[in-house]
Amino acid sequence: MTATIFDPISRRTLLGTGAAAAGLATAGSIVPFRLAIGAQAKVRIGILLPYSGTYAMLGNAITDGLKLRLAEAGGKLGGREVEFVIVDSQMSVPKAPQNTQKLIAKEKVDFLVGPVHSGIAAAMAKIVGRAGNPIMIVPNAGSNAVTGPLCAPNIFRTSFSNWQPAYPGGKVMADDGHKTAVTIAWKYGAGIQMMAAGTSSFEKAGGKVVKDIQVPFPSVEFQANLSEIASLKPDAVFAFFSGGGAVKFVKDYAAAGLKEKIPLYGPGFLTEGVSMAQGAAAEGIKTTLHYADNLDNAANKAFRAGYKKMYGKEANVFSVQGYDTGSLLLIAMDAVKGDSGAKKAMIAAMEKAKIASPRGDISFSAAHNVVQDIYLRKVVKGHQNLMGVVAKQLVDPARGCRLT
Ligand code: BEZ
Repeated sequence: MTATIFDPISRRTLLGTGAAAAGLATAGSIVPFRLAIGAQAKVRIGILLPYSGTYAMLGNAITDGLKLRLAEAGGKLGGREVEFVIVDSQMSVPKAPQNTQKLIAKEKVDFLVGPVHSGIAAAMAKIVGRAGNPIMIVPNAGSNAVTGPLCAPNIFRTSFSNWQPAYPGGKVMADDGHKTAVTIAWKYGAGIQMMAAGTSSFEKAGGKVVKDIQVPFPSVEFQANLSEIASLKPDAVFAFFSGGGAVKFVKDYAAAGLKEKIPLYGPGFLTEGVSMAQGAAAEGIKTTLHYADNLDNAANKAFRAGYKKMYGKEANVFSVQGYDTGSLLLIAMDAVKGDSGAKKAMIAAMEKAKIASPRGDISFSAAHNVVQDIYLRKVVKGHQNLMGVVAKQLVDPARGCRLT
């Protein structure tokens, strides 16, 4: 595998792992029609993920998980060498259309993998869905619209919709006996949609959200918000933050003396991949997500061991999402024996895909969103420990999707 990274300022080779040589056709493999006999181009995967700012950890973990899965498969897709073209999204929604166009028209990628941020996902999906090309796999961003009104035959998601992990979380809070709650999240698609989902199940179960606090993205100035929560005295708080922002919020919440008085809940992004950095402030926090560190299945054990060996650190949900993106790419390219021009056949294979993921068994809905179990977890000594399954094989409602 080789990789090229570029941003508006520089363009340089990022890394080269595995076989980076000429990319000659292997005996018996199918040569895409546009290539001379005997020469086989590398499969080009465009990656648009954050490698700077509050979501940098997420972008890196997704990339690492994807590279691990492809390395396990010999570094090839459908018999062809792989080349990554990597762009730092800088979490910029205004730059997303230009970055997407560049990867499609200039870099001529065969697949597009990204992004992390819901606003960028919607901007990308508008372009990629309308063009019908290339196949795009979303390895994180939960924007409900991407597998809702913006769904398209060539767009798949291996991560979650914002509704999926948040909806069961509101009921968990009510089941714990809480009657009132404050919601707090960054004010953009992900935060707004997750808070709406958690609120709806909490209120259906008899609870009442007394205040919805929206924080400008990606601000980490929480003091005024924490003072407001202290004065409102709700039974519980339901929150969405992730990456660097989640570290700061959970630590500030504890430092403000709220941890012992008003329990924190939320979609698992609040502690995922950052609970070691949050330290004692994260201990005991209960969240809902499509992964737990100690899931007892063979795929998870092998994945976690392989990840630790390759990168010297623990895996998290973001690396699982990258890893499963690799599995879906393998399924697509194996189905067409490396002919990345055979889009229809690849899409048909992806629609039927069933993957024994580290998170448990997954498949894809008619809207091309992942169908998966949602778990209740609790932070114990910095680990996301499984407490139970709160939703089995949960299908996103996919409202507004024409594929359903
Ligand atoms: C999102 O923007 O969709 C998102 C970002 C980080 C974690 C989860 C969702």
